[in-house]
Amino acid sequence: MLLNSRVLGHGHFLPAKVLENNDFVNFIDTSDEWIYSRTGIKQRHIALENELTSDLAVKASQKALDSANLKSDDIDCIILATTTPDETFPSTATKVQTQLKMRNIPSFDVQAVCSGFIYSLQIADSLIKCQKAKNILVIGAETLSKIVDWKDRRTCVLFGDGAGAIILGKSKGFCGIMSTKLYSDGSWHDSLFSDGGPSINQKVGKIRMNGKDIFKQAVNKLTEATNEALSECNLDVKDINWFIPHQANQRIISSTAKKIGLGEDKTISTVRYHANTSAASIPLALSSSIENGKIKSNDILALCAIGGGLTWGSCILKL
Ligand code: ACO
Repeated sequence: MLLNSRVLGHGHFLPAKVLENNDFVNFIDTSDEWIYSRTGIKQRHIALENELTSDLAVKASQKALDSANLKSDDIDCIILATTTPDETFPSTATKVQTQLKMRNIPSFDVQAVCSGFIYSLQIADSLIKCQKAKNILVIGAETLSKIVDWKDRRTCVLFGDGAGAIILGKSKGFCGIMSTKLYSDGSWHDSLFSDGGPSINQKVGKIRMNGKDIFKQAVNKLTEATNEALSECNLDVKDINWFIPHQANQRIISSTAKKIGLGEDKTISTVRYHANTSAASIPLALSSSIENGKIKSNDILALCAIGGGLTWGSCILKL
C-alpha cells in the first residue's frame, strides 16, 4: 500500500523580548535605514540567557500537537532542525522528547543550517512512506542570538530566535508532501560558517559571512531548486498558491520570487518581524500564516531554503 504524508498540525513560538533596529545604535555603528533598506528587517525576537532552543521547540511543539488534536503518545519520531543545539550532545530533540513526556521513540537533530527544516521534511516524509513512523514531530528551532558576534555589524543585525513545528502524519489518499529536493556544495564553506567547533577549537564559534557571495548563490539556487521540485511533481508555477522561501532577507525573497515568476501577492514574507531564524524560519512563516488565515487547507505551497554549507533544498506540499 502506497502511503503519503500530510501536515496534521502546526505551531510556533517566539521569545517575548524584541530587539528593534533602533536598539542597535546603542552599541554598533548602524541605523534603522541601513538595516531596513538592505534586508527588510525591522525587528527580531531574542531569547533570554536561560531560554534555550529546547524551550522554544517544546512550546512550538505543544501548539502543533494541540492543533493536530494529538497527544504526546501519538508521536513516534522527533526530528529537530537546529544549528544552535542546547549542548554539543545529547541532541536537543531528546530534550524535547523528555519535556513533552513522549514514549521512547527515536529523536534526533538535523544540522543543515538554514535548510534544516527542508532536510527534515524529506527525512520525515521518507520514514512515513516506508512505514517506519505514523506521526512525526518536525521542528525548526534556533537561538541564533547566542552565536552572533554582537560587535560585527555585518551579521548581528540579520538574525533572530524562534521555533516552528509541524506534525507530519500518514495519509492513504491525500498527498501532502508532493516532492522534495536537497543539495549541498561544501566548497562554499568560507562564505558562511562559525569560527568554532568541538573538534577545531573546542568553542562554539560565532557566525562569519560574506554577504555578497551568499546573496548571489541564494537567488540562483533557490530558483533552480524550486523549479526542479515543481517539475518532479508535474506542477507549474501557476499552480502555487503560496511561496514560502527561507526568511533571510527581503531582497533575496523578492528577487527569487520574481525569477520563478511569482508576484509579491503569492509570497509569504515574515522577515520584517522575525529576521533570519535559520532552520526555524520556514515553519515559523508557515505556522504564523496559517494562524492569521492567509494560508488555507488544500493550498499548494512551495518551500525553499539555503544556508551554510552551502546546503539548499525545496519542497512542494499541499496543505
Ligand atoms: N550598518 C551600517 N553599515 C553596515 C552594516 C550595518 N549593519 N553592515 C555593513 N555595513 C557597511 C559595510 O561595512 C560596508 O561599508 P564600507 O563600504 O565602508 O566597507 C557597507 O555597509 C557595504 O557593506 P556590504 O557588505 O557590501 O553590504 P551589502 O550591500 O552587500 O549588504 C547584506 C550586506 C545585507 C548582508 C547583503 O550582502 C545580504 O543581504 N546578503 C545576503 C546574506 C544573508 O542574508 N545572509 C543570511 C545568512 S545566510 C542565509 O540565511 C541564506
